[in-house]
Amino acid sequence: MIVTIERLGHLGDAIGQGVFVSGALPGETVEGEVHEGRIAAPRILTPSPDRVRPPCPHARSCGGCLLQHASDGFVERWKQEVVRSALAGQGLDAPFRPMAVSPPATRRRAVLSGRRTKGGALVGFHARQSGTIIPIPECKLLHPDLMQTIPALETLVRAAGSRSGELSLTVTRSLGGPDVAVTGGKALDAPLRAELARIAEERSLARLTWEGETIALRVPPAQAFGAARVVPPAGAFLQATAEGEAALLAAVRDAIGEARTVTDLFAGVGTFALPLAAAAEVHAVEGDASMTAALDRGWRQAQGLKRVTVETRDLFRRPLEPDELRRAEAVVIDPPRAGAEAQCAALARARVPVIAFVSCNPVTFARDAALLVRAGYRLDWVQVVDQFRWSAHVELAARLSLPD
Ligand SMILES: C[S@@+](CC[C@H](N)C(=O)[O-])C[C@H]1O[C@@H](n2cnc3c(N)ncnc32)[C@H](O)[C@@H]1O
Repeated sequence: MIVTIERLGHLGDAIGQGVFVSGALPGETVEGEVHEGRIAAPRILTPSPDRVRPPCPHARSCGGCLLQHASDGFVERWKQEVVRSALAGQGLDAPFRPMAVSPPATRRRAVLSGRRTKGGALVGFHARQSGTIIPIPECKLLHPDLMQTIPALETLVRAAGSRSGELSLTVTRSLGGPDVAVTGGKALDAPLRAELARIAEERSLARLTWEGETIALRVPPAQAFGAARVVPPAGAFLQATAEGEAALLAAVRDAIGEARTVTDLFAGVGTFALPLAAAAEVHAVEGDASMTAALDRGWRQAQGLKRVTVETRDLFRRPLEPDELRRAEAVVIDPPRAGAEAQCAALARARVPVIAFVSCNPVTFARDAALLVRAGYRLDWVQVVDQFRWSAHVELAARLSLPD
């Protein structure tokens, strides 16, 4: 079948004449066999001017990156359009700041898959639309420190993986070295625990956790947030790249300006709260008690920060109410993909002057921003922050304020 591509869907797949096409771009004419509504291996008849040679040799097979065949300019326009159309769906529009994109080889946290093989172990990403694991020795996405961890991960898989099941290996770059959290492996017993601890020592892992149990803690796997150092719970949320985190923090700082009392909602382990505490008193609210405890410890051990208070609270069920937001000159809000509808309804009533909104889901962001705009807020600007380079994932920061 010959298909002309009309658009990219939200997952980055090209779509034309009702058919999904892997690895194609809008405006291209492609030919290929349709199987279950998809052309998986298209022949590109007329290439788009936005088509580039994928920088990574694994790009064709690996499911880790889906947009390596598109120019940076195309990806920026497309990601901004995803946000713009989500806003338009709610009757909103806003000025867009230029996109901030993380450079290649900066991903500091990744979830890899591992499986035992006849000859040893296989560690990598899944292939496209498949459970097959693809080894990624030339990966252009991961930070070199994560790439260097792969042989240690292979050793762990050899020791505790099976040929039928798959291990999930979350590896995070930390100040103390690799922080590794594994699930899906063999059940722990005393000999396996000892073997895993030996591997952690031999391979200089900062921390190794197995199904949530700490097997080895050689060096605290700390993260720096401004003047503070925080040791997050294993597997806890962390922005995907240091560059992405810096761009989001710069946008948040810009949004809140001179505010001296800030409430940070969905605060995680203090990515925003702790750097902002250099200039403002911060109340940080987060649903996971182990994360608020880590944030609090980080603040107590840091020098020269203003007061940071923490609160563990489910903000879906019990959003902060207007009387609890009275002191806040600005709010930072960074919810999970589901957004923060209940909390935004309470913010609309509280009339906090400025809101810095960080979101990883343009659709729920647009829904929540519309709620605030209907209550009198202005959507001052939006900035796409692309820390998931070459993927269809869209992340953004925005400023909402009440007119004087
Ligand atoms: C996108 S992360 C942002 C974390 C932090 N702002 C950062 O940049 O590292 C969202 C955070 O919301 C927390 N969270 C998820 N559901 C929640 C809920 N119902 N109430 C409070 N916090 C929640 C998660 O634990 C996570 O830390």
